[in-house]
Amino acid sequence: MAPPHSMTARELLEWYAEAGVDETIADRPVNRFEEKPQAANPAAPPVPPEPGPGESKPIESNGEKKGLADAAAPSPSPREPPPEPPVSVPQGGANGEVTAAVHLARSAGSVDELRRALESFDGCGLKKTATNLVFTDGNAQAPILFVGEGPGAEEDRQGLPFVGPSGKLLDKMLASIGLDRTGVLISNTVFWRPPGNRTPSAQETAVCMPFLERLIELVDPKVLVALGGPAAKSLLAETTSVGRLRGKWFSYSTPGLARPIDATALYHPAYLLRSPGQKRVTWMDWLGIKRKLQAP
Ligand code: URA
Repeated sequence: MAPPHSMTARELLEWYAEAGVDETIADRPVNRFEEKPQAANPAAPPVPPEPGPGESKPIESNGEKKGLADAAAPSPSPREPPPEPPVSVPQGGANGEVTAAVHLARSAGSVDELRRALESFDGCGLKKTATNLVFTDGNAQAPILFVGEGPGAEEDRQGLPFVGPSGKLLDKMLASIGLDRTGVLISNTVFWRPPGNRTPSAQETAVCMPFLERLIELVDPKVLVALGGPAAKSLLAETTSVGRLRGKWFSYSTPGLARPIDATALYHPAYLLRSPGQKRVTWMDWLGIKRKLQAP
């Protein structure tokens, strides 16, 4: 949608801000909604027929920059990649995009393949407005995987998760227990920036979830940490606030995992930047994570 021509410069700026355009990236606007000729996608599996009424919905994806993780990780990992689990396609998805995501994600046998699958995937609407795919950063063979909510402006620019202000705090907290990005893997519940940094919708989360689940299976970390409420809700299947979940341990399992993974939730670093009073309890949580990592 274009703004009306009669607007003053100030009205125009306000119009853009209301539409979620909160920063300038280039001198000229790019219409990402413009119809493009459909390129053949050899990686995409045949999509089964549309699910029926009453079934849930999904959505769509973009390009990227490589994270330290996959660049550094010799593939394949020394651990055997988990066998492809039996396909139990979630019932739901008014347009079949979740189903397509499940098939595509399960066909990936390594984190690199999963990244390529995600690059080829056009089922998440967030891809249309994002600059880059933001998938992982860190070490794909690390014993710990952190999952945040979704990329912000700086992440979208660089194509890497947690590189903005909350990423800087995350790095400091990692350092406090002797870790850095060479010893952890970091990802998100959605892989493209939600416009204006809004919370990802249920559809956007649902369509990215098969890729996140496959990432967890392929990395098979000892410890899984949800950063903030939306990640905790997605991974721990809990509806209570992070304030009630933090400090507790849960089991994360999927049919493709050989054994359940110890999982917990932390306050999101962005929340801690706004509420530094919560840093004290969070420090206790980090010590709990350190103990869990060191346990036999
Ligand atoms: N917040 C998130 O949840 N993820 C990022 O990658 C950056 C900020």
